[in-house]
Amino acid sequence: MAESLLVDANLSKEEKYKSLLPQIEALVTGEKDLIANISNLVAALRQGFGFFWVGVYFNKEGELVLGPFQGPVACTRIPYHKGVCGACYTQQKTMLVPDVEAFPGHIACSSDSKSEIVVPVIKDGEVKLVLDVDSDKLNDFDETDQKYLEQLMKLVESWY
Ligand code: SME
Repeated sequence: MAESLLVDANLSKEEKYKSLLPQIEALVTGEKDLIANISNLVAALRQGFGFFWVGVYFNKEGELVLGPFQGPVACTRIPYHKGVCGACYTQQKTMLVPDVEAFPGHIACSSDSKSEIVVPVIKDGEVKLVLDVDSDKLNDFDETDQKYLEQLMKLVESWY
């Protein structure tokens, strides 16, 4: 397997997702280790889109605990009822936040983060992890991100 990624910078957001998703599937094919695969998945998203921060928080030890990520250092543990990640966990659905300042209880790991999308991986009714993507621009995520990131998290669900 060639560990490289090809993403044409001139593509639209939707075209980028359509180009990236099969490449991510190819990257993880034949590897069963969850951390290795999630590490490559978040790296591919960062490389493909240049997101400010992308990473996961695992549901473990009664809270959300930082896993593989790309970007500036981040909060290590998030209580279930705190922040956008906590809201994603308790509501078991994607949180699309155009302006983090306007989200009650948002946890500012970095003051440069302006908008955010958090997508859960749910298996047998339990949130296993949440994918958190942050942008340093306001209103940077929309239904296209939601559609493809949810598709990607379905792939992660299949690893459990
Ligand atoms: N902003 C998140 C915390 C995680 S960092 O953004 C990486 C939240 O409010 O849950």
